[in-house]
Amino acid sequence: MNRGRCNLKIKTNIRVMKSIDLAAVTSIEKDVHIQPWSKKKFEDSLLNGYFCRVVESHSRVLGYIIVSHFSSHEAEILNIAVEKFSQKKGIGTNLMDYALMRLTALGRREIFLEVRETNSNALRVYSKLGFVAVGRRSNYYGVGRHKKEDALILNRKLQKWVEKSR
Ligand SMILES: CC(C)(COP(=O)(O)OP(=O)(O)OC[C@H]1O[C@@H](n2cnc3c(N)ncnc32)[C@H](O)[C@@H]1OP(=O)(O)O)[C@@H](O)C(=O)NCCC(=O)NCCS
Repeated sequence: MNRGRCNLKIKTNIRVMKSIDLAAVTSIEKDVHIQPWSKKKFEDSLLNGYFCRVVESHSRVLGYIIVSHFSSHEAEILNIAVEKFSQKKGIGTNLMDYALMRLTALGRREIFLEVRETNSNALRVYSKLGFVAVGRRSNYYGVGRHKKEDALILNRKLQKWVEKSR
């Protein structure tokens, strides 16, 4: 059973995402994101060989993470979500923690992501895991018809590289 290092109150399993998961994944996506990904975007992520994992409990998908590869050393978290009723139980942190461990093992040296500057839940999780803001994209996200919101670009160096560079 694949688990991250954070203590969870429910028993979960993290595994590779498959096509069969996409109905559950897109249903969570529509529920939690302001600008949800289409099913096609998830299908493309699988086809492109991105790092796509789901977290499940008793065979029910509770969340997922998608990470693309910028280069052999850099990765970008494209999407992460936990279904509404399962949030604030440590699942998102655990999933991130797991992905950071696996990506380090796969030789990635640093990881990037973009987040709405008002997404405080996500920002708290990222900051606890050691991500720092390295940039901002103005008016990156559309919110409603007229309002726009900035994206913060966050970065985290991965441990193996930090240890090697000392
Ligand atoms: C961002 C997201 C993935 C975080 O997932 P999550 O499972 O809720 O995250 P966690 O539970 O690990 O951490 C969130 C909070 O719950 C707290 N928490 C963790 N375990 C807990 C527990 N057993 N009991 C109560 N709270 C707990 C965490 O400490 C944190 O709270 P705090 O920092 O305010 O104290 C989730 O909020 C989500 O899907 N959001 C919508 C999609 C989204 O915005 N994705 C990110 C786009 S960049």
